[in-house]
Amino acid sequence: MKRNYTQALSHIEGIISGEPDLIANLSNTAAILKELEGYFWVGFYLVTEEQLVVGPFQGPAACTRIAKGKGVCGTCWSENRTLIVPNVHEFPGHIACSALSQSEIVVPIADNSGRVAMVLDVDSRALADFDENDQIALEKLATIITQIIPTK
Ligand code: SME
Repeated sequence: MKRNYTQALSHIEGIISGEPDLIANLSNTAAILKELEGYFWVGFYLVTEEQLVVGPFQGPAACTRIAKGKGVCGTCWSENRTLIVPNVHEFPGHIACSALSQSEIVVPIADNSGRVAMVLDVDSRALADFDENDQIALEKLATIITQIIPTK
């Protein structure tokens, strides 16, 4: 499915513009993305010293903590690259937060120093629901979010 991200991205840019609160911005970003077709779960896992901890999201309750290198999100964090998983049941060590999720895309989001600060996780109930079109749009979104992460 070729999703049109143009409207969602401009809505996100508008709503976060001038607003310094990161949690507010991530919450609205998740809400806007959730309107896209096929988005069953969408949200952010925030990097802490040891683990990812779930942050603002839309969808069913999710796993709270994910260790580095574990599951799709933990692998995205440790390898610092986007992962597209057409069938989560075939991904070694996949963490099933919902039995309904069948495919997902996870995109790393760096802070201004280039370190992964969070990952954006999107799950679909359909198999193979994400492709390069989603990757390009969500990586563009990642660069927008990088700019609003407060410098430590
Ligand atoms: N699927 C993820 C876990 C998070 S939930 O899907 C919301 C993973 O394996 O990293």
